[in-house]
Amino acid sequence: MQTNNSLQFDVYESDTEVAEAVSNEIIGFVNQNPNSKISFPTGSTLSKTYEILRSKAQHGKFSLENAEVFLLDEYVGLPKESKDSYLSYIIENIQKPCGLPIGSLHYPDVHSADLNQASNDYEELIAGGLDLQILGIGSNAHIGFNEPGTPFDSKTRISELTRETREANSKYFGGNVDLVPHRCLTQGLSTILSAKKIILVATGKSKAKAIAGLKEGKIDESLPASALITHGNTQLIIDEASNTVKQTNN
Ligand code: PGA
Repeated sequence: MQTNNSLQFDVYESDTEVAEAVSNEIIGFVNQNPNSKISFPTGSTLSKTYEILRSKAQHGKFSLENAEVFLLDEYVGLPKESKDSYLSYIIENIQKPCGLPIGSLHYPDVHSADLNQASNDYEELIAGGLDLQILGIGSNAHIGFNEPGTPFDSKTRISELTRETREANSKYFGGNVDLVPHRCLTQGLSTILSAKKIILVATGKSKAKAIAGLKEGKIDESLPASALITHGNTQLIIDEASNTVKQTNN
């Protein structure tokens, strides 16, 4: 383990080991606090972790039946029943297989006519109340959809996705960046930081620059995840690929 400022870095050889470590953390946390309020992200980084959680649930070793789950963010502009929504993803990958009652799954109303009100309502529901916040990280160091330049005191709100983020997410839309929504509703940085414990997960070389920035320890709005350095109870579980910046000769 390496520590940098207040961040704890746990580095594993492979993304499979990362998924095992993250799922162990989540299972241990929920076993100790079955009534936990937990925020889960979507994205490819956590998919192996969720696979392990589903398998444990299937074998009676993990259950979210007494927990409450919150979405970290959601696209704005997709049809209500879209299979590409983050809500659909969490229903299929977490809610149903892990025994979470549907009424204990919380998400912002991105179909509201008043999105500012929907953001405020979601903020009120979660701020200060989360026990555990699970995060991925963007190659530009965003957390949630808080893109570089987002103020650290930002709350839940509507946000514009950068071109880089839309390109990264086009893999979920058949590789067509034009199909990726331009806007989303996201927990703000201050909302994320209000969780009691935070686990950030990173795998793959595309995250190496963002992780290197965090290791440097500079707290700067150009690196949204650096807000976590101010949190005090944040653990990074990452693989070697994301922990290593490859040198180029030019
Ligand atoms: P990924 O997304 O897990 O699909 O890389 C993470 C993020 O953009 O926050």
